[in-house]
Amino acid sequence: MSADLSPIDKAKYVAAKRAVDYVHPGMKVGLGTGSTAAWMVRCLGERVREEGLRITGVPTSTRTAELARSVGIQVVSLDEAKWLDVTIDGADEFDRQLALIKGGGAALLQEKIVATASDQMIVIADAAKEVATLGAFPLPVEVVPFGWQTTKALIEETLEALDVLNRDVTLRMNGGRPLVTDESNYILDLHLRRIGNPRQLALVLNQIPGVVENGLFIDICDIVVIGHPDGRVTVRDINEGTERDDRINIEPNDNIFRDFSD
Ligand code: A5P
Repeated sequence: MSADLSPIDKAKYVAAKRAVDYVHPGMKVGLGTGSTAAWMVRCLGERVREEGLRITGVPTSTRTAELARSVGIQVVSLDEAKWLDVTIDGADEFDRQLALIKGGGAALLQEKIVATASDQMIVIADAAKEVATLGAFPLPVEVVPFGWQTTKALIEETLEALDVLNRDVTLRMNGGRPLVTDESNYILDLHLRRIGNPRQLALVLNQIPGVVENGLFIDICDIVVIGHPDGRVTVRDINEGTERDDRINIEPNDNIFRDFSD
């Protein structure tokens, strides 16, 4: 089955497989959202089933909660867990300082709350997610539905005041209607192409009435595990200032690939 995986899925799988080595018995683990995080949840489920690993998972979306339960992970809310040992999640982009854009899967609000409530955040990604400057991926901003068009106009004015050149802002849709997040909000995607000062933009966006949270994660991520289709993984630790290469075997008869094909 592993041979049937696309190169990108192999890269996501090996990053996820390496990242779950950071999870130890008794830990409270934030479970991210998205296709890379889904591999991580399957890898953790495999350890729960095969090693009897006992952990508590805090999902960042209803999708992740369903997947986690289906692979045998005990799931609790963040309020029950209160503080987490580690969160493992994907990202849409990351830069050299491990600043991130997240929210392509519309789960940025819960993802940011859960990651911030964790001793450590580990991002798992394929190498294509690394960028010199954030912003080619549209920046998601979660806004309350009430007055969203006014909020959009205020965001556009703010971008103009910041001298941002490309400031096209679009409402994310789902089947002809505005996409509604798990927290019953809308998502505006900011097509900026380049974010010169992510720290400043993150702060300024959150000052605008109607904005709930933005998808810039600054000083939150500690480690990025970058996967490659040939099984290589690169682990970059921003606190230690280290980078190590490793290799993960992609087993052709791995149970996890059977889960994937189900
Ligand atoms: C979910 O809202 C996002 O933050 C995801 O973590 C991000 O979009 C990465 O998703 P993929 O792993 O599917 O690329």
